[in-house]
Amino acid sequence: MNATVGIPSSIKAEHEEIHGELVLATRLGGPVGEAARALAAVLHPHFVREEQIALPPLGLIAPLARGEHDPDMAQVLALTDSLRAELPAMLEEHVAIAVATRKLGEVARVADNHDVARLAEKLLLHARSEEEVFYPAALLVGELVRSRLEMTSATAR
Ligand SMILES: [Fe+2]
Ligand SMILES: [Fe+2]
Repeated sequence: MNATVGIPSSIKAEHEEIHGELVLATRLGGPVGEAARALAAVLHPHFVREEQIALPPLGLIAPLARGEHDPDMAQVLALTDSLRAELPAMLEEHVAIAVATRKLGEVARVADNHDVARLAEKLLLHARSEEEVFYPAALLVGELVRSRLEMTSATAR
């Protein structure tokens, strides 16, 4: 795949930070560890899938905004078409993730574990960023790439 189709490093770093902190929390004992393991079970497959289809298209935002064209950009359409099809399921996963995250936040506050309580806040905000910005932006990348391809093939005729 073209080098520009890839998860932007800032978003990759955010995912890795959340994932790493959650892994640490799953190793804790008591209700905090238990809630962290329940969250990890719903979050992990979701993170994997979004790193496959939802986040790599965002790597094309900057080159597209600079007006760059590249026939290899068409490779992103397989990802954005999958995202379009899977979006309802991914949003449902966010609901389950939010329930498990709020639970983790509650038990962390009760246990005075501020780090884990902050992790829960960070994850809720991350999911909202995805719903409000990242997922729609990825879909727009697909639409823009498709319409530019159609324009190029129309002018080539
Ligand atoms: Fe995510
Ligand atoms: Fe997500």
